[in-house]
Amino acid sequence: MTVNDFLPSVYEKQVTSGSVTWRSPSNIALVKYWGKHGQQLPMNPSVSFTLSECATTTKLSWQPKDSEGFSFDLFFEGEKKIAFYGKIEKFLERVQPYLGFLEDFHFKIETSNSFPHSSGIASSASGMSALSLALMSLEEELTGVIDKREFKRKASFLSRLGSGSACRSIDGPLIEWGEHVTIPGSSDLFGVPYPHPVAEVFTTYRDVILLVDKGVKKVSSTVGHNLMSGHPYAEARFDQARNNMDLLQTIFQSGDLSAFTALVESEALSLHAVMLASTPSYILMKPNTLQVIEKVWEYRKETGSALCFTLDAGANVHLLFPDEENDRVMEFIKSDLVGYCQNGQYICDGVGKGAEMLK
Ligand code: PMV
Repeated sequence: MTVNDFLPSVYEKQVTSGSVTWRSPSNIALVKYWGKHGQQLPMNPSVSFTLSECATTTKLSWQPKDSEGFSFDLFFEGEKKIAFYGKIEKFLERVQPYLGFLEDFHFKIETSNSFPHSSGIASSASGMSALSLALMSLEEELTGVIDKREFKRKASFLSRLGSGSACRSIDGPLIEWGEHVTIPGSSDLFGVPYPHPVAEVFTTYRDVILLVDKGVKKVSSTVGHNLMSGHPYAEARFDQARNNMDLLQTIFQSGDLSAFTALVESEALSLHAVMLASTPSYILMKPNTLQVIEKVWEYRKETGSALCFTLDAGANVHLLFPDEENDRVMEFIKSDLVGYCQNGQYICDGVGKGAEMLK
């Protein structure tokens, strides 16, 4: 498929005012996307667990208008949020070639997150995917019913233009993004449900997010991605990710949890290693991030648990483990890890099924 497959349809229907609400989750990458080119195209394939509890709910309301240009109001958790306008404006500019109706309506965007405000959890994946899905619902009203698969594919395509990893939040439980030889149907343009066999254990995996640092990141993802161009280790990193995609295929099928643990942790540390080696270099982990990692390694050595960690572009730690270990691991978190969390805060989440339209 090419970008031309996402050009707007002919809008035959007349639509007056209306609204729709979507709830879209966050996701956590197992093989990480880091480095992009062109218009939000990934330098390597990635795969993620879709989450269930960490989500954004967005109500999009529309009213026809005659004036030119974009017109919208945005409310975040009930309050008008001018600080987000620039980001939304940029997103609308990017998706305009693919949605022919954006200047025909005034939009009211009312959005809220399930996770605490300023938790250091990026809401771009859940936020951009929720808004993209809502825009797709309006497109569907204008064109008539769109095939479910096409609807999700275009929603993922639009989400990607808002925030790369957002394209992996539409569906669940495992989503792959980025063209890769061993993943049929894979594309740099949108995420696809992981197509190969997956052992049962991975469909109910838990993710407890330790909020180690809730501050604003010193280096944004956008800047971080850009630092991969001309990075001395870039090609090796992209090769490593491709190779890990292939190794995961065997792991997903067999349910080999110790191989899973080793691969996922290596991906997380490799992501942060290329940050350390960027020019200028930077560190997003905090001392408590490393303390948690040490503790997880000790715990695994002592108990034989399959608990492992992963990191996104920040200091917070995602603890991944099979559902059947939930009681034991939660005990360990409460006794040994809560002290490393800011204000003792953590979020219990798990693998989810993807976004849903709310009635
Ligand atoms: O979608 P972005 O531009 O915020 O980048 C996300 C990058 C990582 O979270 C670090 C990895 C990933 O694949 O989600």
